Amino acid sequence: MDLPQLLRTMPKAELHIHIEGSLEPELIFRLAARNGVALPYPSVEALRAAYAFSDLQSFLDIYYAGAGVLLKEADFFEMAWAYLERAAADNVVHAEIFFDPQTHTERGVPVEAVILGLHHACQRAHAELGVSAKLILCFLRHLSEEAALEVLEQALPWREYFIGVGLDSSERGHPPEKFARVFARARELGLHVVAHAGEEGPPAYIESALDVLKVERIDHGVRCVESPALVARLAASRMPLTVCPLSNLKLRVFPKLEQHNLKVLLDAGLCATVNSDDPAYFGGYLNDNFVQTFAALPALTRADAYQLAKNSFEASFASAAEKADWTARLDAVYAAT
Ligand code: ADE
Ligand code: ZN
Repeated sequence: MDLPQLLRTMPKAELHIHIEGSLEPELIFRLAARNGVALPYPSVEALRAAYAFSDLQSFLDIYYAGAGVLLKEADFFEMAWAYLERAAADNVVHAEIFFDPQTHTERGVPVEAVILGLHHACQRAHAELGVSAKLILCFLRHLSEEAALEVLEQALPWREYFIGVGLDSSERGHPPEKFARVFARARELGLHVVAHAGEEGPPAYIESALDVLKVERIDHGVRCVESPALVARLAASRMPLTVCPLSNLKLRVFPKLEQHNLKVLLDAGLCATVNSDDPAYFGGYLNDNFVQTFAALPALTRADAYQLAKNSFEASFASAAEKADWTARLDAVYAAT
């Protein structure tokens, strides 16, 4: 039995990836040169060397600066296509991809350029790589709810090109209830709803994401373990958590990967999944997250690997037929590896 081989080859869904967080330093430099954007770093190596974070905010500052090279539809296409090719190599069969339109509209980039560029990459991934790829529009929680309502309305002409909305950026001090109205509006429009909660914020933020925003998945959610009643609720409802181990390590949610609570979450019966969050910044794509986490947590078994991949399909917004197809492919790989 070769566990890393199983982790790499099993088909899986990625449900927590910020497309701007897949922007590699090489592409940042290429787009900066093409678009005439000045960068405060002399080289790719110098930029990469700056990726040493102390918490979420220290990462977000550099992540938003990196996204400043994205101006044209073609830039968004190239970024997303690079991610999707990389994801296909990790046997990702389905990706639900976050994007942050406000990061771009605030710089004068039309929302149309953002959505069309990303959408065309998703279309091509389906046609050429056999990867199903969908988009989730995220609101930046450090901005106002009015700004979120505004960007949602701006995006509506392209409503068919995204399947849901999410909530990301600086968590502490920006509780989910700040966005009650915009999430109600999104639900009215038939969009799926998810939110980051319990990454740096307390379990109460997970509760208000559930009770006020009525989310269908919690992004991160690892701090739920501080409330046994909340863990019981999440387990009973099979509420998915999109866990991002290397992100948690790099943003110091856990001091060491060996201390990550992924096994605890699975043993509590939670629908936990493994995801890369911002792979260009955190040192690994999806299979790196799986392989490094399993190496750091020897209590994780082959059965846990299977469960995590199965959970990723269960937690996705794909159709029942797609989920059944991917799960059958997973069963075949599991039986053969
Ligand atoms: N935006 C990109 N990555 C994020 C994360 N891990 N948490 C909150 N907002 C983000
Ligand atoms: Zn995230």
